Amino acid sequence: MKKLQNPHKKGNFANTNYKMSETLSHLNGTKSEIYQSLLPQIVALIGDEQDAVANMANISAALKEAFNFFWVGFYLVKNDELVLGPFQGPIACTRIQKGKGVCGTAWLNAEAIVVADVDAFPGHIACSSLSKSEIVIPLIKNNLVVGVLDVDSEHLNHFDHTDLEHLTNLCQWFSEKL
Ligand code: SME
Repeated sequence: MKKLQNPHKKGNFANTNYKMSETLSHLNGTKSEIYQSLLPQIVALIGDEQDAVANMANISAALKEAFNFFWVGFYLVKNDELVLGPFQGPIACTRIQKGKGVCGTAWLNAEAIVVADVDAFPGHIACSSLSKSEIVIPLIKNNLVVGVLDVDSEHLNHFDHTDLEHLTNLCQWFSEKL
């Protein structure tokens, strides 16, 4: 298990004036380059849309298309539980209690978690035995965790500081729209 510090670094990708097109483009290069190309396109894709479900669905789809993650999606806090939201990937657990699994721990601590090997994370909730590593980023609005973004990989040790930094920037930007 590896717990990385939130870099507290706000990206400026949201300031880019980027027009939405029908497809995502320039999704090649290093991981960092892909994030730098993708995030302004997500901002354009969402535009002025206020519907949270629609926006989470498109964010999940865009991340899946860019990185072909095994599973990517949202859980939202409802009645003191995390409840499954829009996602891309195999079917998943519907409800997660506070403090349980990687998602519930990220919620409890209001802190992102990078897990290099899910089998080494105490209490990891295995929605799929194919998932090997995971990153969870809390969505924080008005100092409260209102949900999490969860990304799973079928490869061990798949996520690093680059994912943490860019996904944190994405979640900070998106949380303000919730
Ligand atoms: N593995 C997560 C549960 C959610 S699924 O991976 C989609 C956890 O331990 O919280």
